[in-house]
Amino acid sequence: MFTVALGATGCGSEEPDLVNGKNLYAESCQRCHALERAGGGANVGPDLDEAFAYAREDGLGEQTVEGVVLSQIGNVRRNSTMPEDLVTGDDARDVAAYVAEVAGEPGEDIGALAEAGAKVSSKPIVAKSGKLEIPADPSGALAFTSSRAQAKPGTVEVAMPNPASVQHNIALRDEGGQLMQEGEVVGEGGTSMFTAMLKPGTFTYVCTVPGHEEGGMKGELTVK
Ligand code: HEC
Repeated sequence: MFTVALGATGCGSEEPDLVNGKNLYAESCQRCHALERAGGGANVGPDLDEAFAYAREDGLGEQTVEGVVLSQIGNVRRNSTMPEDLVTGDDARDVAAYVAEVAGEPGEDIGALAEAGAKVSSKPIVAKSGKLEIPADPSGALAFTSSRAQAKPGTVEVAMPNPASVQHNIALRDEGGQLMQEGEVVGEGGTSMFTAMLKPGTFTYVCTVPGHEEGGMKGELTVK
């Protein structure tokens, strides 16, 4: 039924760079697609674990999955919300190889791959003198550098320096999920910020760029 012969990927070319593939996945794909081993993702497009689970069951190899992903990147159907050629050349091959390596495969990334993508700390960032600084992940992954923060009640200036090439902001939701405050969206080198009067409670800080919060760019702020 599914007969694809993919010679092209193996023609004496260098081995794909899976670490580069994972980093690019975080930067270019995670805002639309879930992939568990890459740390989840949003559901604008199909869940890639589900999309390729059938291929695993049918015993189709990584080369086949890699070919399907590569052709999707280069030939998006007309009117799709997925932008064409998000990544090209060796970068496209690396992303496809990474997806082929992990899609539908339970477990966790190991070694250098575990180091790639977002490095989110669960150690809380604590506000100092009414200032709370929560940087965006430098790799371009959909994450802040920490998933937890703490502040004392009162006026708090919240700032998110953005060292990544992906646009981000920082915003705050109350316990009911309502947006309370929102900093401006900034690119590389910019700082998104807002000042809030906080009462004791638990809040969620998020990035409101479409797909980013769903892709995992959020954390919990405890005020007490
Ligand atoms: C803006 C959202 C968006 C981004 C970003 C995006 N995609 Fe997609 N993708 C989609 C949508 C929507 C579909 C559903 C099919 C279609 O519309 O063509 C899709 C389909 C796919 C499929 C086919 C899945 C299937 O079930 O057959 C693959 C594979 C895929 N995308 C991989 C990627 C990769 C790899 C990246 C990053 C380089 C990426 N996508 C970035 C939205 C996106």
